[in-house]
Amino acid sequence: MNWFVQTVTSSVGKKAMMAITGLGFCLFLAAHLAGNLTIYGGRQAFNAYADHLHSLEPLVKVAEFGLLFFAAVHVITGLVLFYQNFAARPSRYAVTSSAGGRSIGSRTMPYTGIFLLGFVLYHLLNFHFVDKTGTTIYDIVSGAFENPATVAVYVCAMIVAAIHVSHGFWSAFQTLGANHPKYMPLIRGVGLVFSLLVGLGFGLLPVYLLAVS
Ligand code: HEM
Repeated sequence: MNWFVQTVTSSVGKKAMMAITGLGFCLFLAAHLAGNLTIYGGRQAFNAYADHLHSLEPLVKVAEFGLLFFAAVHVITGLVLFYQNFAARPSRYAVTSSAGGRSIGSRTMPYTGIFLLGFVLYHLLNFHFVDKTGTTIYDIVSGAFENPATVAVYVCAMIVAAIHVSHGFWSAFQTLGANHPKYMPLIRGVGLVFSLLVGLGFGLLPVYLLAVS
């Protein structure tokens, strides 16, 4: 037990937990996006997808608890690493002079992460913790995106999500030891395509629903 606590609280252990939970979120995002694309099929298609999902209720509950656990580990570990990196900075000069080749994604990880945490809470209040009696999930979602301000918030959030994923995806693989010169360009390429899919796939949905409202 002692070795377990030591491992997860070590610097390498914390980075590995960020990587595993982050890749778990990527899987969730891929499944969530695939389901949400049924919105393009209209009210019936999206409601049928949502009904099918709810018919798998015990499994969905397990997945929801898993997601919540992953979110707690990812957010708490991320905040601890952010604080430790911040406290370890020897001087502002050292920070600004360092790090050739760092991307917007890598530099902004803690900030885009905190923004996404706020977005997910807002998103759950929009679509999850709402009274669904006498309406359907399609009407709730399409009703929300009749408001251009809500569409703007979602489009901005999807750009931030794409930036976060663009760094997080390949960085997770690197942390888990896949930084072989042969595979890294492929992993970076897949990460870039996946982040574009997240940004465009999720981001265009609210715009489409506003356009057809
Ligand atoms: C246009 C973009 C999106 C739309 C239209 C959308 C729509 C939805 C809908 C309809 C639900 C189900 C509510 C319910 O039946 O209880 C949901 C749940 C959820 N969404 Fe999204 N979503 C979008 C983007 C995102 C993104 C980018 C994330 C993560 C960063 C996200 C995270 C979640 C989470 C964590 C849940 C709760 C899952 C659960 O309780 O099973 N969503 N979303």
